[in-house]
Amino acid sequence: MKNLIVSSNPLVKKDLTILRNKETDPEHFRNALNRIAFILASEFGINIKLKESEVETPLEKTNGYILEKPVVIVPILRAGLSLLNSFLEIIPEAKVGHIGIQRDENTLQPVDYYFKAPEKLNISQTVVLDPMLATGGSASAALKILKERGAGECFLVSVISAPEGIKKINTEHPDVKIFTACLDRQLNSKGYILPGLGDAGDRVFGTF
Ligand code: PRP
Ligand code: URA
Repeated sequence: MKNLIVSSNPLVKKDLTILRNKETDPEHFRNALNRIAFILASEFGINIKLKESEVETPLEKTNGYILEKPVVIVPILRAGLSLLNSFLEIIPEAKVGHIGIQRDENTLQPVDYYFKAPEKLNISQTVVLDPMLATGGSASAALKILKERGAGECFLVSVISAPEGIKKINTEHPDVKIFTACLDRQLNSKGYILPGLGDAGDRVFGTF
């Protein structure tokens, strides 16, 4: 496995325990995801490229910095939406694209149903958000769609990743750096991550 950054922040481990707990209700589940996303956004931020831009304090001019390239955040619908607000808190200048992808329950293949993204993906830093990287089919399809529309530098952020998903992204998108809160053991026969947290979208939106 390569291009993988697993968070070592102890607060992430604490909140992952809340996410994994089957008794956690949607409100507390969303709150814990927000907090983890905030930390992952900060860790992703270390990779952001800046350029110098002079700033005038009340006393004198000094060196400052602005984004070198626009940042585009792309949550994969539905569950990726749960990470968006924290990323916008950390990078408020970012533009937002949306990709609708649903995994077919039987074949586990991704089915895409919606796409809308800002222009100039070719000169942007694009970060795809999805709390779960299981087979990797959905994230890989999202990255492929973005690259077909010109995206250059791409990153992927997930909360729980399976080794199978990491390997797929490494193989199909060797240029993509992955930020994750944790690397779990394996997938079960239905493509769910073990130990995982169950169905992220259902737990975020209370659709169970
Ligand atoms: C979940 C999750 C990912 C995908 C991961 O979405 O949010 O998008 O499954 O699985 P994969 O790595 O094997 O593709 P789901 O298809 O359940 O859609 P939802 O977010 O609308 O619930
Ligand atoms: N999608 C989820 O929401 N959870 C899993 O464990 C796998 C895919």
